[in-house]
This record gives sequence, structure tokens and C-alpha cells, in this order.
Amino acid sequence: MNAHSIPGELLGEVLISKQKIIEREHTMADLIIKDNLDTNPIFLCVKQGAKYFFDDLCKILENKELIFDKAWISISSYERNASSGKVNVGEYSGPNLEGRKVIIVEDIIDTALTLKKLIRYLESEGVSEQDVCALLFKKRPENLFWRILGLRSCFGLPRIRYLGAFIPNYFVVGKGLDYADYGRTEEAVHILPPEGQAWVDEQLKDVTI
Ligand code: IMP
Ligand code: MG
Repeated sequence: MNAHSIPGELLGEVLISKQKIIEREHTMADLIIKDNLDTNPIFLCVKQGAKYFFDDLCKILENKELIFDKAWISISSYERNASSGKVNVGEYSGPNLEGRKVIIVEDIIDTALTLKKLIRYLESEGVSEQDVCALLFKKRPENLFWRILGLRSCFGLPRIRYLGAFIPNYFVVGKGLDYADYGRTEEAVHILPPEGQAWVDEQLKDVTI
């Protein structure tokens, strides 16, 4: 157990196991390779949450000798367990984006506000093409039509080209996803029930005194 682990008895159901994550990462990597043999894309990690998924994916792609560059961008929108509705695009670190194909690597698509904001930012930087690769997609009532349309580009939403799995509309932790920085290092994706969230809130109270 590390400093930001949540006790096992406070974690809820496993929605995606470690094994399933590994399987899906390999499947997505194969599709990415097929589509990008001669595009020399930039893989853009949306920090912090996507870091674990991004590192896995890059390792698989490097082993398969795909030629690509890596980049990182900090974006924040979540306040503990809900989207704040305000998305801040922070520091970008990576090669010049102008004229390049970018593959955005995200941990989860929830309200998709982050993605919309990021896509506008990349357009303003003059990228030539964008694709999205996400580990998880949260099935919210508001995104039903997008799902029916196969996550293709519609209503100002981008196309999600590579997706690991759909999950039901729960707050989750694990594989990079956190609640106030807790739960990121779980290897499977778990629901974080209200008791788990309350336990984390308690820990943070002690820190801020
Ligand atoms: P969106 O802008 O609402 O699509 O949310 C994007 C970001 O919010 C994701 O990249 C995550 O970092 C975070 N997020 C959304 N849902 C969850 C969740 O269930 N657990 C932890 N973080 C989440
Ligand atoms: Mg994220």
C-alpha cells in the first residue's frame, strides 16, 4: 500500500480488470500501428490521469518499432468527483505541433469538455490532423446519441477512434484515475463508492489542519 492508496475494503466493484486493460492496450496499439505506419504522429498524454495508460501504450508501440514522438499537456477540470465545468489548458511539453498529426491519449471521456477544449487548442497550434485514443468512455445519458453514432464526430464532438472500453456512469479510480490524488496506482479500474470518497476526505482533513 503506498501513501495514496485507498484500503481495499473501501473500493467498489472492479469494472475493468488488469488483464482486460492489458488486452485492450495491445488491441488498440495494433490498430494505431496499422493507421500510422507513415504518419510519424505525436502521442499527446493528457496529464495526470492518462500517464499510466500512455506509458503502457508507448512501450508497446516502441517494441513494435512504430516511429512517433511523445508530448505531454496538463489539463484540469475535475474537482474531486465531478467536472467543474471549467477546463484549464496548462503547460505543453513536446515537439512543435504545427503541421503534425496528433494522437490524443486520454484516460477517460466523461463530459468531453476537456477533449473539446484540447482540440481547439491543438487547432490553434496548427496541427494537421487529430485522432483520439481513450482507455475508457463513461456512458452518460447525455452522450447516448454520440454512442449510437459510433463515437464519430458530431455536435462539435470529435471522433473517438481508439477506445478501450465503455463503463457505466460511476466515479472510478485506478489505472491513473484518481480521487484527490488517491487511487491512481490501483492496477484495475474500480468504482469508488461514497464510503471510499468519505475516507479520502477524512485523510485530507488531517493534512490541511
Ligand atoms: P471530461 O472533461 O468530463 O470528459 O473529463 C475528463 C477528465 O476528468 C478525465 O480526463 C479524468 O481525468 C477526469 N475524470 C472523469 N471521470 C472520472 C472518474 O470517474 N474518475 C476519475 N477521474 C475522472
Ligand atoms: Mg484525464
